[in-house]
Amino acid sequence: MSSTSIVKDVLEELTSVLMYNVPRAAREAQLLLMHHLGCDELWLITHQRSEVDELDKLFELAKRRAKNEPLEYLTNKVSFYSEEFFIAPGALIPRPETELLIDEVLANVADKEAVLTFVEVGVGSGIISIMLAKHFKNAKFIAVDISQDALNIAKKNIEKFSLEERIELRLGSLLDPVEESIDYLISNPPYIANDAKLEHNLSYEPQNALFGGDIGDEIIKKLLNEVLKLGINLFTCEIGYEQKGKITQYLQNTKISSLKFYKDLSGFDRGFTLKV
Ligand SMILES: C[S@@+](CC[C@H](N)C(=O)[O-])C[C@H]1O[C@@H](n2cnc3c(N)ncnc32)[C@H](O)[C@@H]1O
Repeated sequence: MSSTSIVKDVLEELTSVLMYNVPRAAREAQLLLMHHLGCDELWLITHQRSEVDELDKLFELAKRRAKNEPLEYLTNKVSFYSEEFFIAPGALIPRPETELLIDEVLANVADKEAVLTFVEVGVGSGIISIMLAKHFKNAKFIAVDISQDALNIAKKNIEKFSLEERIELRLGSLLDPVEESIDYLISNPPYIANDAKLEHNLSYEPQNALFGGDIGDEIIKKLLNEVLKLGINLFTCEIGYEQKGKITQYLQNTKISSLKFYKDLSGFDRGFTLKV
């Protein structure tokens, strides 16, 4: 392809680069071109004969996508709970099932005006604290991560939503950097076993966002210990679909008020809320 071409032809060429490895090749071709041109879908559809330049740069992205690099990292955009967030390789790409964690927390606190201190462990790109801060207008959030790269990405998103006053980022492990009294602890921690064989595309994501230890549930158990030790009233946590039994067993002889698991749309256990 020459150094400039028109939208219609570029889309065809991009689709042919992607079609062997990417399931929705034509759609992803559109998304890559929209990113390259900085335009929306309506513009793309109505400007099929417009010129596209810097094709080398665009096709370099398409080749990376054809080698399974996640589209979200190439376009620096991800959608979560109907909002668009900035994303880059230092943070986990938000997953749709984590939207259920937001719904779970919203269902657990009837008074959306309440003055509460939420703490999130493992903030990543910031999606959970940001979405909750949008719903709980008077709440303060302390958002911890062990990765400075993730915190840098979360900072960008917090600024995008103008929530700098209410979400404070802290570098550290678990609750180490938190001295305040906590009303509600939230986490989507790494929960995959260290030796699990994962699909190739997951190798692009930060490994400390995925792997939770030899068994996988080690970080969840550490958080449970903290909740019980500090007497935190509410704790909502995402889990791997096969971890319900181990967590229930772990809490068997402890003094708790309730433990309720929630499922994803496929019927798999996805998380729990613990009330102490
Ligand atoms: C599964 S990702 C979740 C990211 C984001 N909250 C989301 O739901 O998309 C887990 C996050 O926990 C962080 N993390 C891993 N170990 C940690 C620890 N010991 N203390 C605090 N954060 C940790 C990782 O850096 C990563 O950002």
